[in-house]
Amino acid sequence: MKDPLLDAELFERARAVRDNAHAPYSRFPVGAAIRTEDGRVFVGANVENAAFPEGWCAETSAIGAMIAAGTDAASRRIAAVTVVADRVDGGIVCTPCGGCRQRLREFSTASTVIECRDPAGAGSAFGIADLLPSGFTIESQF
Ligand code: THU
Repeated sequence: MKDPLLDAELFERARAVRDNAHAPYSRFPVGAAIRTEDGRVFVGANVENAAFPEGWCAETSAIGAMIAAGTDAASRRIAAVTVVADRVDGGIVCTPCGGCRQRLREFSTASTVIECRDPAGAGSAFGIADLLPSGFTIESQF
């Protein structure tokens, strides 16, 4: 799986924020960078906790940053999101967990691009419908 890098800035921002992850338990830092349809970029990293289930993912952090800064509904639509992490077991590119797929779906459209990349920039691009087919939503299905 090797798709060309579609958004170099998002990749660099996700790779950089990954260095700020709080992941002492899994030792699996993840960075995420969201570009909204109006062009703004929001980043987030995973935040783990000694009470393991209380940790959350990089994508969730980035969504939180977007919502905290956003004003109207149009500014909350995700044009693209890039996730950067090591490959799982050294081979499989890291894709969003099920919960984050649902959270991303909330702010996605049929044209939202989800890039999943290793720190060298290799990986794949997906649509939200690839990652969450028939996902639950209050808006129209696509
Ligand atoms: N994690 C993310 O932040 N994003 C993903 O897409 C997959 C997994 C985090 C959760 C946990 O802190 C660590 O990676 C190991 O699962």
